[in-house]
Amino acid sequence: MALYSENVMDHFRNPRNVGVIEDADGVGEVGNAACGDIMRIYLKITDNIVSDAKFETFGCGSAIASSSMATELIKGKPLEQALHLTNKAVTEALDGLPLNKLHCSVLAEEAIQAAVKDYYERQGSTGIECPE
Ligand code: FES
Repeated sequence: MALYSENVMDHFRNPRNVGVIEDADGVGEVGNAACGDIMRIYLKITDNIVSDAKFETFGCGSAIASSSMATELIKGKPLEQALHLTNKAVTEALDGLPLNKLHCSVLAEEAIQAAVKDYYERQGSTGIECPE
């Protein structure tokens, strides 16, 4: 059996939403100290909807595929839904990741949470609970 699903390979070879949103409403950057990979997510928010999402990922193929899939999953969705996107949902959408690569999808979850949190902070909102 192949180590990586077709879907992972597709999002690795043809990543969606790569780049920077210059006037982003929220930016989140996270890293994994063990592997040294870094992921940055940019969000554009319109009427509480994620109207655009882009990423820059300096990392492994699974991290790139996870960023690509995660940004696809949150585009056009309410902000609250983006905030609660789990690495499990990202992994399932990719048709699985090897066990030792699951942390790559966790980076995507954390980067989106950080970007949403940044958005709320810029809005001066204190009333939300962000999962740790
Ligand atoms: Fe660390 Fe993929 S090996 S994010």
